[in-house]
Amino acid sequence: MTKVTLTVNGRTMSGECEDRTLLVHFIREKLGLTGTHVGCDTTQCGACVIHMDGHSVKSCSILAVQASGSTITTIEGLAGQGELHPVQAAFKEHHGLQCGFCTPGMVMTAVDLIGREGGKLTEETVRAGLEGNICRCTGYHNIVKAILAADAEMAGGRQAAE
Ligand code: FES
Ligand code: FES
Repeated sequence: MTKVTLTVNGRTMSGECEDRTLLVHFIREKLGLTGTHVGCDTTQCGACVIHMDGHSVKSCSILAVQASGSTITTIEGLAGQGELHPVQAAFKEHHGLQCGFCTPGMVMTAVDLIGREGGKLTEETVRAGLEGNICRCTGYHNIVKAILAADAEMAGGRQAAE
């Protein structure tokens, strides 16, 4: 067993795991943060997307021991003090989810996408940005709508702050 220490949603957290343990299983089973889902564990579905050192990654594609020392954000760390993140609020407002299984990964991917290309996203670039995330329920239309709405709202906030 190897000790893994991470900064998770602003807190230092540690746990022991086998060298072969995937980061997603470590997050769910050792840290008890079950908002990050496992849809395939073969890097197909995107349900396990988290942010690691500021970038979205599929946490089933990394070993927990490889991630040791890094800073990660999971879906549980996204909302502020009792307030949904604008992307979460937009998914709610625009019906960007049905069963919700894909939603944590979709939201984490969207937040990263807006962080990189915010203010100039189009339907086409959002769809391209979601290529690694599979949803079996919604047909994607409302997810794309929600992300574009969140982008517009966040861009407005960015402009007001300038
Ligand atoms: S569980 Fe990681 S991509 Fe499906
Ligand atoms: S809402 Fe069910 S898989 Fe996306």
